[in-house]
Amino acid sequence: MNKPTIYITRKIPTSLLAPYQESFEFKMWEKEDVPVPQHILIEESKQAQGLLCLITENIDADFLKQANHLKVIANMAVGYDNIDVEAANKNDIIVTNTPDVLTETTADLTFTLLLTTARRIIEANHTINNDEWGDWAPFMMAGSDVHHKKIGIIGMGRIGEAVGRRAKGFGMDILYHNRKRNKEIEAELNATYGTFQEVIAEADFIVSLVPLTDETADLFNEAAFRNMKSSAIFINASRGGVVDEQALYEALKNGVIHAAGLDVFKQEPIDSSHPLASLSNAVLLPHIGSASVQTREAMIGLCLQNINNVFNGKAALTEVKN
Ligand code: DGY
Repeated sequence: MNKPTIYITRKIPTSLLAPYQESFEFKMWEKEDVPVPQHILIEESKQAQGLLCLITENIDADFLKQANHLKVIANMAVGYDNIDVEAANKNDIIVTNTPDVLTETTADLTFTLLLTTARRIIEANHTINNDEWGDWAPFMMAGSDVHHKKIGIIGMGRIGEAVGRRAKGFGMDILYHNRKRNKEIEAELNATYGTFQEVIAEADFIVSLVPLTDETADLFNEAAFRNMKSSAIFINASRGGVVDEQALYEALKNGVIHAAGLDVFKQEPIDSSHPLASLSNAVLLPHIGSASVQTREAMIGLCLQNINNVFNGKAALTEVKN
């Protein structure tokens, strides 16, 4: 019997495929750091029964119409705003993501970004690289405290909870907003629920961990930044699409808010010509929330398990539905 063909849209270590080589015919885009061009993705996917893809792939209704032998699309990410899940499900294609395995790693990075931004770590490091460290001075590179300040977590999902646990360790007051109130986490973290506007107005650190949906697109807009304290630090580790970047740029430049730490952008990748890159009070990272070797391997492993389950008539471990 012919083995199902699985197309993998980026070069990944073949050692991770070894347990599945008997069951599947794997085909892979040959580059690790360059996404597969859409026309090649379409051609390859037309021949495939399964797809292991990344957030860089645009899996829309038009793509799905053409890739009509697919049974499963395993997205190597917890977010799946790159996939039209409704159209996939209409075509009887199962879509899966990679929750849980990346929660702690992404929370580590989110909290690192918060600390780095508050304590001006990148600027401080540059003083040495640029030979600008003069004498010790009372307010040299003085930043903002983190301990015992108020954190406002917008989006209290798994990663929000994990960030909350880290914040609790720093003695922070925890405020949060979420579509649904979560009484268990309130009890565990002594966290206070508020409306979006209440939380962003009261918090010293506003941390965005909401998925990108029609409701959250440009959630952090000019009005939202105006509602924050002028000392507020804004952290985004979810999706760039939840921020109006022009409004954020103006807010940072004009002192409407104090600083921002961003791991994600509307159009990725960005480069040094991006307006936000010109600001010393913005710390920018290239979407590395889940980027530890162990976690990236676990994400690939979960994608492969999901694909394997689907072709063995078992339920996918982490299916997403529209
Ligand atoms: C995710 O998992 O959604 C990240 O943004 C990519 O690791």
